[in-house]
Amino acid sequence: MICLFGPNGAGKTNILEAVSLLVPGRGLRGQDFHHLARLEGNGNWAVASEVQCPLGEVRLGTSFEGGGATSRKVAVDGHVEKSAGALAQYLKMLWLTPAQDRLFMGPGSDRRRFFDRMVASFNDAHASHVSAFEKLMRERNALLQHHRADEVWLATLETQMAEQAIAIAVARNQASDLLARHFASHASPGPFPWGVLQLHGEIEELVATFPAVQAEDEYAKILADSRGLDRSQQRTMRGPHRADISVLHGPKSTPAEMCSTGEQKALLIGLVLAQAQAAKEVLEASPILLLDEVAAHLDEARRRGLFAALAALGCQAWMTGTDENLFAEAGASACRYEVKDGTVHVRY
Ligand SMILES: Nc1ncnc2c1ncn2[C@@H]1O[C@H](COP(=O)(O)OP(=O)(O)O)[C@@H](O)[C@H]1O
Ligand SMILES: [Mg+2]
Repeated sequence: MICLFGPNGAGKTNILEAVSLLVPGRGLRGQDFHHLARLEGNGNWAVASEVQCPLGEVRLGTSFEGGGATSRKVAVDGHVEKSAGALAQYLKMLWLTPAQDRLFMGPGSDRRRFFDRMVASFNDAHASHVSAFEKLMRERNALLQHHRADEVWLATLETQMAEQAIAIAVARNQASDLLARHFASHASPGPFPWGVLQLHGEIEELVATFPAVQAEDEYAKILADSRGLDRSQQRTMRGPHRADISVLHGPKSTPAEMCSTGEQKALLIGLVLAQAQAAKEVLEASPILLLDEVAAHLDEARRRGLFAALAALGCQAWMTGTDENLFAEAGASACRYEVKDGTVHVRY
């Protein structure tokens, strides 16, 4: 357990965000890379780390050059990699931020991202498939807006999209089954309720019904047939990017969005803990957890429950809070750091 405490604006979330960039994706806040650079700086930023993972010790680094860059650079042990996807094999990471407090009420895209992060901790290739699909889809959407779009090029893009889409859906179904089995055998009345996840997606249903190759053809055909509609809507209407995840509060059998704010937070923590537990059992490696402002909303008993659960998991968990006392129950093994004016001070 790594506890970071200090006043608002001290730089605690900033540290968690830096850590979150050591896995593929856009990090904890999902921000555009341009927005991560220091205001009034030169537009560049970088994160360097030393990591102990099941593959051994490794130095992971990532950087971004503000100029005209659209993607970040990633280096492993000093060697520049082709893409951020290379990071996936070293670290798995899950996070919870105050912005996710409304996850069950908010747009489906937020829940999908949250779920895809869970899937990625079981499947190294998942994040790369998701970003490849999104890139191809953007290309197809742009091409459809051309007055006389090249049909051959469109068909090529659609075939490639179908390949990625099927890989995404298969990984989601596998993770969803695995989590369902895990939740069923670990449902306990602890301080954090278990959740029942349900995945609703057209492509996920396709791959559950047909062999992968056939599902690919089916989706490529769906895309070809919906060019007219997609052109008029200026987006792709059908695909894995439209899947949604619904969550039930297990003990109460109530849809999560109908639970109280506090219950929803506890449910989210329960999901993350259960997922970390499942990952530990399946992969024998726990994900790193980034729990921003997690302790503040919990009563003392739940805080104790959280620290006990984290200690039992044995995974590295970064937590932030405004007050050192919030971590009083975390025990002697927790590392405590005071963050003040953008500087980290070791406490004990
Ligand atoms: N791009 C930026 N450049 C400079 N300062 C920033 C930038 N983004 C945020 N900040 C400031 O950094 C400070 C630390 O933010 P944060 O890490 O979120 O604090 P907290 O400790 O409350 O989590 C805040 O005062 C914020 O306004
Ligand atoms: Mg913060």
